[in-house]
Amino acid sequence: MTSTRPALRSPCIALAVVTLGALHVAAHAGEVEVLHWWTSGGEAKAAQALKGSLQAKGHVWKDFAVAGGGGDAAMTVLKSRVVSGNAPAAAQIKGPSLQDWAKEGVLASIDDVAKAEKWDTLLPPVVSDIMKYKGNYIAVPVNVHRVNWLWANPEVFKKAGAKVPGSWDEFFSAADAIKKAGLTAVAHGGQPWQDLTTFEAVALGLGGTEFYKKALVQLDPASLKSPTMEKVLTTFKRIKDYTDKGASGRDWNLATAMVIKGEAGMQIMGDWAKGEFIAAGKVPGKDFVCVAAPGSAKAFTFNIDSFAMFKLKNEANVKAQKDLASAIMSPEFQETFSLNKGSIPVRMGVKMDKFDDCAKASSADFGATAKSGALVPSLAHGMAVASSAEGAIKDVVSQFWNSDKMSAKDAMDKLASAAKTK
Ligand code: GAL
Repeated sequence: MTSTRPALRSPCIALAVVTLGALHVAAHAGEVEVLHWWTSGGEAKAAQALKGSLQAKGHVWKDFAVAGGGGDAAMTVLKSRVVSGNAPAAAQIKGPSLQDWAKEGVLASIDDVAKAEKWDTLLPPVVSDIMKYKGNYIAVPVNVHRVNWLWANPEVFKKAGAKVPGSWDEFFSAADAIKKAGLTAVAHGGQPWQDLTTFEAVALGLGGTEFYKKALVQLDPASLKSPTMEKVLTTFKRIKDYTDKGASGRDWNLATAMVIKGEAGMQIMGDWAKGEFIAAGKVPGKDFVCVAAPGSAKAFTFNIDSFAMFKLKNEANVKAQKDLASAIMSPEFQETFSLNKGSIPVRMGVKMDKFDDCAKASSADFGATAKSGALVPSLAHGMAVASSAEGAIKDVVSQFWNSDKMSAKDAMDKLASAAKTK
C-alpha cells in the first residue's frame, strides 16, 4: 500500500503544476481574430503557417475566413463588421485601401514593432510606403505575389503540338492548336476579379508598362479611350472563345485544377496558382511550367499581401497583435509562408535556396523591374487605385467580357467614366 502513495500523490502535484502553468500563460496570452480569404488548398496551407506562428508565441488564433478569391467578399464582410463596432483584431487589407481605413481612425499603429525591428531597413521602399500612414506603420507586409504569369501543362502542349507562348500572337496559335486537340485551351473562372486579372495582363503585354501606368494606375482618360486600349479590349475578348462553357462563376483554384489535371492547357493567374500545383504534389518545370503572361517578360505586376491591425482595448490582445506582426516579418515565417503560397518573401535578404525556379525568377525580376521602372501595381488586386474606382472598372470589364452587344468603343467610354468613381 505504502508504495502506491507517491504514485497517487504525483498526479495531484502534476495537476497543480499544469493548472498554475495554464494560469501563467492565460495571464499573457491574447487572442487575435484574423480575417482572410485563404481557403483554397495552397492558400489554406499558407494560412496554417500564419496560425502556427501566432500559436508559437502562446496566443490564440481565431479564424475568420471568408471564402472568395481576390477578397471581394471578405472586404464586404469586413465593412459591415467595422460599421457595427465589431472589428476583427487583424484583417488582410492591401494597397491604397490601407490609407482609407487609416483615415477612418480605426487602425492601430504598429510603428513601435517596426522601429524596434528596423523594418525600414528590411523592406524595399515600394513596399514600406504602402504600409505607412502619415509615416507610421499601420500594416505588416506578408509576401510579394507576381500577377502577370501564365501557367501551362506541358503534356497538353505536347499533345496539341503547341509551343508555350511568349507573345499574344503565339498565345492564340497555341490556343487554336489545343482547341483542335479537343481540350480547353484557357482555364478561366468567370468572376469579375479574374476577368480583370486577365484584362490587366493583356493591357501590360500589348501596351507595355508606360501604357499600363497611364491607363490603369493614373487612370488617364486619353489612354483609357485610345487605339491601344481598343486593341487591348478586342484581344481580351478574343480569349473568351478559348474558355469552356463552365467558366462562368468558376473559382480560380478550380480553373487551376483543370490545368493540373490536363483538362486545360493554360491559365493566366498570379502565382498563388503555383500554391495549388505544389499542394497537388506537382513539380515545377516538369508537371507544370510558369512563364510571364504574353508580352510581359520584362514587367512585373505586383500584389503585396498585408495585414492591418484594428484598435483594441484588451492589453493581452494588443500584445498578441504586435507579436503576430513581428512573427510575420521573421525570416523563418517569410520562407515557410511563401513556399506554400507560391509567392516570394517581402523581407529583403531571405535565402531563396529552398525556392523553385518560378520563385527565383520572380525574385530576380522584382529587383530588376524596380530598377528599370517596369514594376507596376496590380489593378485587379487592389494595389493600383482606390477600391471605388477599381470596383467600377472591374464591373465594366466583366460586362464587356460577358456581353455580346457591347463594342470596344462603348467599353472605353464606360471605362473612362468608371475611372472617375470616388
Ligand atoms: C489575391 C491575394 C492572394 C491570393 C488571391 C486569390 O488578391 O492577394 O493572396 O490569395 O487573391 O485568392
